[in-house]
Amino acid sequence: NKVLVLNGPNLNLLGQREPAVYGAATLADVERLCAQVCEQHGLALDFRQSNHEGVLIDALHEAGAAQARGELLGVVFNAGAYTHTSVALHDAIKGAAVRVIELHISNVHAREPFRHHSWLSPVAAGVILGFGIRGYGLAIAALAGEQVEQV
Ligand code: DQA
Repeated sequence: NKVLVLNGPNLNLLGQREPAVYGAATLADVERLCAQVCEQHGLALDFRQSNHEGVLIDALHEAGAAQARGELLGVVFNAGAYTHTSVALHDAIKGAAVRVIELHISNVHAREPFRHHSWLSPVAAGVILGFGIRGYGLAIAALAGEQVEQV
């Protein structure tokens, strides 16, 4: 069984981007962390990043189909700033009926008011935020836990 970890705009800049907010780890470090946690849970990892909204939408549609075939547990999705702007991502998650855990490295509720609203939260299975990149591991463990409960 597989997990898709999907990263949106500007997350390719992790490590150099506002390190006081997002930390020193790079996206490659995040991928390593995700690979380790997936291995611990016996899951395969599909790890992606795109700065393009349409590419993220296509990935969610693909993930919904894979989930329906029983090949994918769900998606850990850090949509970056599209979280706060994208009705299209909201509709994609809903339309593809894909299990998504919304993830943010920072505690968006302790930041600017424009980060307080999420278009994804109403269609997410759960939300993990404010734990730094460790949140990715927590989100994968949450999906893996769901898998155990379903057995
Ligand atoms: C983020 C929070 C968003 O508000 C921001 O636009 C990002 C990263 C996070 O991981 O904390 O790009 O999703």
